Amino acid sequence: MNDRELLNLAREAAEKAYVPYSKFPVGAAIECEDGTVFTGCNVENAALGSTICAERTAACKAVSEGYRQFKRIAVYGEGENYCMPCGACRQFLWEFSPDMEVLCSKAGGRYVSYKLRQLLPHAFTL
Ligand code: THU
Repeated sequence: MNDRELLNLAREAAEKAYVPYSKFPVGAAIECEDGTVFTGCNVENAALGSTICAERTAACKAVSEGYRQFKRIAVYGEGENYCMPCGACRQFLWEFSPDMEVLCSKAGGRYVSYKLRQLLPHAFTL
């Protein structure tokens, strides 16, 4: 699967977002080492801190199905800025695949690509 195909899956996943509070749908598509892809959206809650980001939804779907090795994640947010993973999501992804690639896109489809190690230098580890 190429970058554009993974980004398209992330965009489609955003259509399922539950975002009554922010009204900002986000979608993510995470590609596992064997090519399997899991998608996810953000799921908000009236207790705002209980909100789950799209990236963590996708990663939890993968891990709960037995997949722990990730190659790439694509993130889509319909904003004018590239939709970058929040700090908590960076740490969450690091747990499984610190060398994965992170594709961040915005309205119109432009995207930027980073290594997770660039986005989270000096990650916390036990
Ligand atoms: N959000 C994500 O799902 N992923 C990101 O990369 C950034 C932020 C969500 C959380 C919340 O539902 C909404 O976007 C606005 O912050």
